[in-house]
Amino acid sequence: MSFRTIIEPFRIHSVQSLRMPSREEREAALVAAGFNLFGLNADQVIIDLLTDSGTGAMSSRQWAGMLDADESYAGSRSFFRFRDVIAELTGFKEVIPTHQGRAAERILFGQMVKPGDVVLNNTHFDTTRANIEYNRAEARDLVIAEGRVPSSTHPFKGDMDIAALEASIQKEGAARIPLVMMTVTNNSGGGQPVSMTNLKAVSETCRRYKIPFFLDACRFAENAYFIKMREPGYAERTPRSIAQEMFALSDGCTMSAKKDGLANIGGFLAMNDPVLARRCRNILILTEGFPTYGGLAGYDLEAIARGLEEVLDEDYLRYRIRSTAYLADKIAAAGVPIVQPPGGHAVYIDAAAMLPHIPPARYPAQALAVELYRTGGVRGVEIGTVMFGRKQAEGPDLPAAMELVRLAIPRRTYTQSHIDYVAEVVIDVATRREAIPGYEIVEQQPYLRHFTARFMPLL
Ligand SMILES: Cc1ncc(COP(=O)(O)O)c(C=O)c1O
Repeated sequence: MSFRTIIEPFRIHSVQSLRMPSREEREAALVAAGFNLFGLNADQVIIDLLTDSGTGAMSSRQWAGMLDADESYAGSRSFFRFRDVIAELTGFKEVIPTHQGRAAERILFGQMVKPGDVVLNNTHFDTTRANIEYNRAEARDLVIAEGRVPSSTHPFKGDMDIAALEASIQKEGAARIPLVMMTVTNNSGGGQPVSMTNLKAVSETCRRYKIPFFLDACRFAENAYFIKMREPGYAERTPRSIAQEMFALSDGCTMSAKKDGLANIGGFLAMNDPVLARRCRNILILTEGFPTYGGLAGYDLEAIARGLEEVLDEDYLRYRIRSTAYLADKIAAAGVPIVQPPGGHAVYIDAAAMLPHIPPARYPAQALAVELYRTGGVRGVEIGTVMFGRKQAEGPDLPAAMELVRLAIPRRTYTQSHIDYVAEVVIDVATRREAIPGYEIVEQQPYLRHFTARFMPLL
C-alpha cells in the first residue's frame, strides 16, 4: 500500500469503558498503596501500561474457539490442537502446557539446575532469575555492552556477548552450566531484539560444549519481525519461517502465552529431549495438572492455539511494532530520554537520564512511575534498582544496570488517541522533572520485592 499511515488491522467488536479517577482519588490511592503501583486497584488507573502480559484483546476467532473447546480431563481435543500448533511452529517434539511462563521456568529449572550452577542468558527476566536463585544457582546476564547503553541505536541490543559466553563457560566449566537461555525479545534489557546471527553463534557455542540451549520465547513473533526488518537476508521471509528458524537453533523453550500467544493466561514448556520431558511431566502432574491440560482449561488451550497463529500475521506485526515506535518517537521528539531504538512491546523511559538529581538508591524510575500515575492516571512499571538492585545488610542498595520506566503496550487494546494522551502526560511530567522527589523503601520481601514493597517519598 502506498499510504503512510499504518492502521490497526482490526475493527472493534466489543468495548469496555474506562473509569476516569480524579487527581484527589489518585493521590489517595498512591498513599493507600504505599506508592507501589502494583498495589493500585485497576479501576483507579486510566491507561494501564503496567504490562503487556495477559492484558491484550482476543479476537472473535479466539472467543469462538473457546466456545467450541473440549474440557475433558485427559486427552482433550483442544490439547491436541494446542500441541500440534506448537509442534509445527517450534519443531519441538515434547509440548507441556503450564498455567503461565514462570510455571514452565520452575519445572524446567527444578529438573536441570543444582545449587552452585550458573545459568547464562542475555538478560534474565525477573521470574526467570528468581526461579534460578531459588534453586541456589547463579543467573548471569551476558548481554552485549550496547544493550546496557540506553542511547545506543544498535539494531539488536538483545544480542549476547559471545566472547563473554565463551569466557564464562571456560571459567565455570560446562559441567556447572546446566543450560544457556536467550530471552527473545530481551524484556528486562528494553524489549530489544536478538539477531539470527547471534542466535546461531550462541547455538553453535552451546553445541560445541554440549550445553542445552533454551529460548525464553515470550515475544518470539515480535523478535522475528525485527529480524525481518533489520537483518540482511530476511526482508522477503515470512515471520513464521523466521520464527521456525529461531526455534530450530535451540533445544527447547519456555513460553508465556500471555504475550505472543495473544491469550490472557497460559504458557508452555517445549523441548526435544524425551527423558527430560518425562521428568518435567511428573512434576507437572504434582503441581499444575495432568499433561494434557497443565493447569489450563480446554478453552485456554484453544485460545492459545489460535493466538499463536494470529500473532504471525504480517499486518498485525507491522501495526504492533509501529504503534510502539509511535509513542517512542513522540516523547523522544519532546526531549524525553528513552531506550533507543524502541523495543517491540514497550517504550522504556531512561529515568537515570531524566532525573539525574535522584541517585539509584533513591529509586529514580520508581519516582517517575509514581509521577506519571499522579499526573495522568497512567500506570507504568519500574525496571531499575527496586526490581533488580540488591539490598545490602548495611548501606544503600547495589544499583541495577539501568533505571527504566517501562510503558508496556497491551496487544490490540488501546487506540492511537489513548497513546497520544499517554505522550501528553509523559511530556507534562518531563517539564517538572526537577521537582520530583526520590523514595525510600519502608517494607520489603526477600524475593521479587518490587511486587509488594512499600515506599515513602523523601520530601
Ligand atoms: C521475558 C519473560 N520471561 C518470562 C516471563 C514470565 O511469564 P509469566 O508472567 O507468564 O509467568 C515474562 C513475563 O512477563 C517475560 O516477559
